[in-house]
Amino acid sequence: MNFAAMNQFSESRVAFNLKWMLPFLGLLFIIVHYWKKRKLYYYALKFPGPFGFPLFGSIHLLKDGPGEVYKMLTTLFGRYPNVFSVWMGKELYIGLSRPKDLEIILNRCLNKGNVYEYTEDYFYDSLITAPVNIWKERRKVINKAFHMTIINSFAEKFLEGGNSLVLNFKGKCNGEPFDVLPSVWRVTFDVACATLGNVDSNLLKGQDQYMLDLMSSHRIIFGRFYNPLYRFNFFWRRSSFGKEAQIIKQRTWNFIDQMIDLKRRTSDGNFQQNYFLDLLIRLEDEKKMSHEEVVKEVQFMFAASHETTAVTVSAVLLALGMHPDIQERIFEELESIFGKSDRDVTLDDVNKMDYLKRVIKETLRLFPTIPFIARRVDQDLRTDSSFYPRGSTVVIPMAHLNRKAEFWPDPLKFDPDRFLTEENQNVPRCTFIPFSYGPRNCMGVKYAMLSMQFTLSTLLRHYKVTSSNYKTIQEIDFGMTIVARPKRGYIISIEKRNRYI
Ligand code: HEM
Repeated sequence: MNFAAMNQFSESRVAFNLKWMLPFLGLLFIIVHYWKKRKLYYYALKFPGPFGFPLFGSIHLLKDGPGEVYKMLTTLFGRYPNVFSVWMGKELYIGLSRPKDLEIILNRCLNKGNVYEYTEDYFYDSLITAPVNIWKERRKVINKAFHMTIINSFAEKFLEGGNSLVLNFKGKCNGEPFDVLPSVWRVTFDVACATLGNVDSNLLKGQDQYMLDLMSSHRIIFGRFYNPLYRFNFFWRRSSFGKEAQIIKQRTWNFIDQMIDLKRRTSDGNFQQNYFLDLLIRLEDEKKMSHEEVVKEVQFMFAASHETTAVTVSAVLLALGMHPDIQERIFEELESIFGKSDRDVTLDDVNKMDYLKRVIKETLRLFPTIPFIARRVDQDLRTDSSFYPRGSTVVIPMAHLNRKAEFWPDPLKFDPDRFLTEENQNVPRCTFIPFSYGPRNCMGVKYAMLSMQFTLSTLLRHYKVTSSNYKTIQEIDFGMTIVARPKRGYIISIEKRNRYI
């Protein structure tokens, strides 16, 4: 055999080998994948669920894009009552709306689902996503900043927030509809600075950019979830989304750094015992937390507090624009407390506002601020009705539970009196969990309720909401980032209640 013939022979052998090698490796990959996940596949089959392609799962459900995730998920929960399973790539998700099992999951499964990893550029390893071993210690320490006496001491700052919104709305009483969210958000942000940070937000530079960056960060987190390639850091960091995420991360971190720096300069080394930012700075000084950890916690806590409360207050106003009779009942309650006086709202007054509190709860039922959360199952878990295998992620649908006719008669009727104790007592636990449930529930429940009561009562003594862009609850189509918001915004019109202004 001459040299050329030998070369041709070995080339054809390589081609032959490659031709068989690639399918062989592919097959091997599939076998290893199924073998490693065999238990998950076995138990997933015990639940009903949508069709899934081998390896890819039900990614066709994502075809309508990030804007339709809310609809896609609520439709799935509606189609499969109680429980269903769905594969997304290599992840098994179990959609669960059976309250008894939810109670067990929320009490025992304290690690977050893998989906939370997509928030890594913003919140990763902060309280919201931290693995249980870190979370437990951190929560214990930070809890000191959420003691009722501390929250009550914020009353004046909550009131200032309400009063500044009253001033802001003065120029909006011309009958023109407007989106109420930006103004409310600005105020909840200032209040977060004044309470959690104990700093004056007017001394911070770049607030508008910070708020815009926060909004963009939601879009980016969802964008990452939607592209399977972005699960790999290699592709993510090189993508335009990934590059934008880095810029935003840097800018938001710089902003938080600026706040920490301001706090340090204005405190002169005298940090208050248990105020949130003071507490974290002390922990950093005592070398119990690194600077990066402090920045991440502050970043998350601020985002968690001002966006959620702004969205909920805006939803209450939207709902009142649709339900003038309910708004009048709130006003009657306020009149029964204040009579003809225009004095400021106090903590004692807020404690008497039972109807307003029920209105906020009914709003959280029909406009679930955080519509879905997820928990990872770290140990096999058997309940009376199902088996939840280790390695799966349970998705918990506040958005769906809150509208299930089984628990809420005439579910789309806005009726705050559902929350009168005697009316409400037959509803099983874990059907109404806007703040989640169990040891890893929302830390800011009391803060949120008190701040929203102050803002709304102050505002509603001065203004009447006269219309909203939605006429019925059915009409509202929600879009979702991390929080759920009506796609057409919170458009309302207002008029003055003449007696006070
Ligand atoms: C209407 C307002 C609010 C709603 C509906 C809400 C809802 C929630 C929900 C559902 C969770 C659980 C998230 C999950 O498991 O993925 C959560 C966690 C959390 N929230 Fe809120 N929240 C609100 C306001 C606040 C406020 C005002 C603060 C702080 C001042 C706050 C601080 C936190 C913290 C620190 C966590 C993480 C707790 C942990 O993992 O240990 N939230 N919130």
